[in-house]
Formats: sequence, C-alpha cells, structure tokens
Amino acid sequence: MESRASLPNNHTKLSGSRDMFMNFALVLFVYVFLSVILPLPAGFKAKGAMVIVFLLSAGRLAILRHFFPGLGGIETSKTLLVASAFFQGIVIILFLLAIARDLVWVGSFSGNLFHKAESARHFRVFLKGIPFTLGLLAVSSLLSAYSLYEAVKVPGVREVTMEIAGWPRPLDGFRVAVISDTHLSRFHDGPWMDEVADRVNALKPELVLVPGDLVDGDTFRRAREAKALGRLKSTLGTYVCAGNHEYISGLREWMPEFSKLGLKLLHNEHAILNVGGSEFAIAGVADPAAERRGLPGPDLGKALEGIPPNGPPVILLDHRPARAPGNSLDGRVSLQLSGHTHGGLFPILATLVKKTNGGFLKGRYRIGDLELYVHPGTGLWSGVPMRILNPSEITLLTLRSAPRSARFPAEGPGTAAPGASATAASATASGGTGEPGAAGETGTGAGENDVSR
Ligand SMILES: [Fe+2]
Repeated sequence: MESRASLPNNHTKLSGSRDMFMNFALVLFVYVFLSVILPLPAGFKAKGAMVIVFLLSAGRLAILRHFFPGLGGIETSKTLLVASAFFQGIVIILFLLAIARDLVWVGSFSGNLFHKAESARHFRVFLKGIPFTLGLLAVSSLLSAYSLYEAVKVPGVREVTMEIAGWPRPLDGFRVAVISDTHLSRFHDGPWMDEVADRVNALKPELVLVPGDLVDGDTFRRAREAKALGRLKSTLGTYVCAGNHEYISGLREWMPEFSKLGLKLLHNEHAILNVGGSEFAIAGVADPAAERRGLPGPDLGKALEGIPPNGPPVILLDHRPARAPGNSLDGRVSLQLSGHTHGGLFPILATLVKKTNGGFLKGRYRIGDLELYVHPGTGLWSGVPMRILNPSEITLLTLRSAPRSARFPAEGPGTAAPGASATAASATASGGTGEPGAAGETGTGAGENDVSR
C-alpha cells in the first residue's frame, strides 16, 4: 500500500491550459465572426454588439479562469457558471453549424448539385442571408439550452447486466451502483450530490464504486460537496480510484478526507471482500496524471500483488478506459470500470474523444475475459458543460456469473496471499434482481451501446 505520508503536496493548478483554452476560444470566435457576423447586412453598431457578446461567450472559460482562479472547478457563482455556459454553448454549436453550412455553400459550386447556375446562385444567397443566419442562431440557442439542461440535471438510473468471468455463483445477481466523474464543484454542487446520493441509496446496492474524478477543487472549497459524497450508502461500502482531477485538486489532502467520509481510495492497491464465504477483489490504479506530480503512476502489478492467477475475480477501477486491453493481458481482471470520456459530450467531439481514448467512448466492451464498462459520467467538468444525445447516468450493474475462458480456467474462489493489501469485509449479499429505478427516468436496459472487441 502506498505510504500516504510520503506523498508530496500536489495542490497545483492546471498548468498551461489557459493558453490552450484561449487559443480554442480564438478559433471559435474568428470563424463565427468571419462566417456569420461579417457577411450579415447589419449596421456597425449591431455588428459591434454581436462581436462583444460572441467574444465574451467564446472566451468564457479563459475569462472566468483569469478572474476567478480555481482548480478544475471554476470558483465563481453557479448562476454565472450556468449563464455563461449557455452562451458558450451557443458559440460552439454555431461554429459547428456554420462549418456545415459553409461546406454546403462550397459544394453548391459543383455542377452536380444544380442544373441551372441561377438556382445555385439563389441557393448560395439564401445560405448566407439573414433569415438563414437567424435560423442558425435560433437552432444554436435551443440546442445549447437542451445541452446545458442535460449536463446540469440529476441523472436517472441505467440498469445494466454484465456476465463476469469467474464471478462466484453464490453472488449471481450481485448489484453494484456506479457513479463517475461527479466533478463536484460550484456547478455540480452539494445539493446536486445530495440528490445523486438519494437516488443511489434508494437502489439499496451491495456496493458503490466510483472510477475517478469525484471532485474539482480543494478540501476547503469542496467541504459542502464532500459532506454529500459521504452520504452514499451500501452493504459493503464505497470504493473509489483517483481520476486526473483528483491530482489537480490535491490528492494528498483528499486522501484523509475521503477516509473520513467513508470512501475507500484504492491507489495501486486492492481489497478482498468476502460475502457469505464467496470472495472477490476490488482494485484501483493511479491515473497517469500522478506521474506529472511526482506520484507513482498506474501500476496494475502492484495493485494486484498477492492475487494468484486463478484467485478471486477482480473488479478494477481504472479512470481511463484506454488501458483496458493491456489490463486484460494480466488475466486476473474480470471487470474494469472507467470514466474520463464523459461520453464525448456531443456528436463530432465524441469522435475525437473516442480516438484519444483507445477507441472507447461509453458503455460495454469485451476484451478477452475482461468486461469493460465506460461510464459516461454522472456529472462532468464545468469548463465545457455540454451533453447532446449523451445522457448522464447513475448505473446499476447486476453481475452474473460466467465461466472463465480456457486460457484462464476457473478453480473456484481463491484467497489472497498473505501480505496482500487487503481489507477483509464480511457481509451477506441479498443477490437477486435489481430494485426498481430511483426517482426520475429509468435508463435503458442492458445491451444498449454494447460493443464487442
Ligand atoms: Fe472527468
């Protein structure tokens, strides 16, 4: 187990990200200015007003971070965060719609689209005209409002059934509540987390697991939100791993705080749980962000130290999904729970997010004997709070027993070797099927977004 006293202080800011956000804002603004504002047949004053509004909206993140410096969460009022996010969303969506419109405009020069050159010219005038541009603005505003609502709401429950290689037969039907990427901040605040905890607790799960990015901000600023986190209840307790935002938020200070809240942080270590004589392990690995702050990076070997190859099945908490193929090669991990992608936020960006996360975006994947569930996030980072066709969720996993493949034959539940960093816990699991979903929407059943690899 990592010696917590030896960890250096990592209460640091997101370094170098301000420039990146500024550049991103500049690209958005310049394109919208050239493609939407400038061609409009409006007066100088009207265009000037639009320039100011769009410039402030595009630069929302960089501006807020300049005047209200904070960690991953921006330390200003929730009202300002939400209102400014609405305008930022309009610019982002308008930027994408303007690109789409301009591609069609360029395409209209092709002789294949129109038989008459006159029709093509009329079409181009229509595309760049005031009615169409106002239409784009209206669509962007509506989509931004919908996107923001989806981002800020308390999610419903999605029930998913997974067959886990080597899972003990007596624990068939074991229910695990998974929340991820809560990013507790002034955006997803204490009252929001209270409601999430109420919905999780109403499910009466055997276990609660959180694969990282719980908090944005230090222990002092997030005291109210932390209190809400401590309300999570289940038979066997809550286990978490650190996401990249935990290191940004000061993991050293959060470690004792998590412990006080009853959250068991697994940092390259594991715990063996014994439920009515059947054993399984929960392991957690560090995030690569740890290495940039002088902390040990992800080390699966260390996390599973003492678990024999045919030992108890392992549920691994690994914030980023991209390491799943590598983790599957170890042969001991039956289920990996990850987050990090936030489901890609919205179409188009999702393609990029998937590419940069090893081809994983959200939902279920199977890699050999390893089942991977990429959680789309219960919350998300308040910097770009957008969700289009990508609902947040509280997940209720029902674990079913499945045989191990011939490569990793099952030999019945094993025991951890002496010296393993294990916390024994004894409890009786109720098993059976899940309770009805908590208040609010009930998610789609198992199978949606399933991808086999
Ligand atoms: Fe996250």
